[in-house]
Amino acid sequence: MATPQMLPTSLLYVFIALLYVFSTVVSGQFNIFSKYDLPTGVSGPTSAAFGALSKGPFTTVNDGRILKWLGSRIGFVDFAYTTSTRSKKLCDGTTDPDLGPVCGRPLALSYQQSTSLLYIVDAYFGLLVVGPLGGLANQLVGGFKFLTEVDVNLINGDVYFIDASLTYELRNITQPGFTGDATGRLLRYNPVNKQVSVLLSGLNGGGGPAVSSDGRFVMVPEITVMRISKYWLAGPKANTTELLLNPSGNPNKIKRAGRVGEFWVAVSIGNYPRRPLIEPQGVRINSDGVVLQTVSFATQFFNRSVTLVQEQGGKLYVGSPRTTYIGIYSN
Ligand SMILES: *[C@@H]1O[C@H](CO)[C@@H](O)[C@H](O)[C@H]1NC(C)=O
Ligand SMILES: *[C@@H]1O[C@H](CO)[C@@H](O)[C@H](O)[C@H]1NC(C)=O
Ligand SMILES: *[C@@H]1O[C@H](CO)[C@@H](O)[C@H](O)[C@H]1NC(C)=O
Repeated sequence: MATPQMLPTSLLYVFIALLYVFSTVVSGQFNIFSKYDLPTGVSGPTSAAFGALSKGPFTTVNDGRILKWLGSRIGFVDFAYTTSTRSKKLCDGTTDPDLGPVCGRPLALSYQQSTSLLYIVDAYFGLLVVGPLGGLANQLVGGFKFLTEVDVNLINGDVYFIDASLTYELRNITQPGFTGDATGRLLRYNPVNKQVSVLLSGLNGGGGPAVSSDGRFVMVPEITVMRISKYWLAGPKANTTELLLNPSGNPNKIKRAGRVGEFWVAVSIGNYPRRPLIEPQGVRINSDGVVLQTVSFATQFFNRSVTLVQEQGGKLYVGSPRTTYIGIYSN
């Protein structure tokens, strides 16, 4: 029974409930599903970057290509590739992981609106960049074993990227008995002096960084230990890390959400350690690590891990190394 003393508390609960309803209604439930199919025989779209005027998405696939979506009548077409050792005859449609060092395996993209440049990381061929006409990308830095993720700082053009391991390569993770290590690093490429600096080392798994839109911090997920940290770039806490949250599954890429200060995390529950059934999700968080929304992709991505949840124009573009399409969730 509501005594006068209890009233403020119950009002607070009503207020919190309304806030919750308001925030979920505003962002919607994303319960309408459609998909962009890859060309026949091609799989593993792990990224979805959009160019100027929302053109695209561009995506990176298992056979080493970077493809561009040209609308539902044409579908995906070749846009770029990461190594001169790649031939279409040998590589198009391949699923052989041992061809990665020949065909390339780009895993992540980040588009810089101000320069029309598309930054690429390739597991075998380092950090690269390609212009609006596509073709063979230009390698900026190489010599890594396993690059996985990239994000450009929109304020100053610095490029943040992840080296998942000093010991193993992408093709090693499907080998029997594989266990990850803690030798991942967060790196920064300065496009002005072309220098690379190591910001963090000892990371567990190669989840993707997201730089905040104000350029003050980077979100850094660690896939295997189910942890998301914040690395400060500016302000009194610059150069320090703080633990933000432990999601309920393995966090892969983190991407800036439509609303400033928010992020989408691709989370796969039961990926490492492997459970019989993986549940793929998109988790929207704010810059303090508070979970604002969880969207399950289990109905369409049944038992497949997700590496990407990219919001664009109010829709979620969802990618997995194990699908032949990019899933699109809208309201
Ligand atoms: C990764 O795979 C390559 C090719 O099979 C192999 O030569 C290398 O020894 C493996 N590395 C590790 C750390 O298992
Ligand atoms: C952070 O590191 C940079 C480069 O090493 C240095 O110039 C800057 O002063 C540091 N900032 C703080 C607050 O420690
Ligand atoms: C999920 O996928 C794994 C291997 O990819 C398989 O072993 C497992 O049986 C699947 N689980 C279900 C419930 O289908």
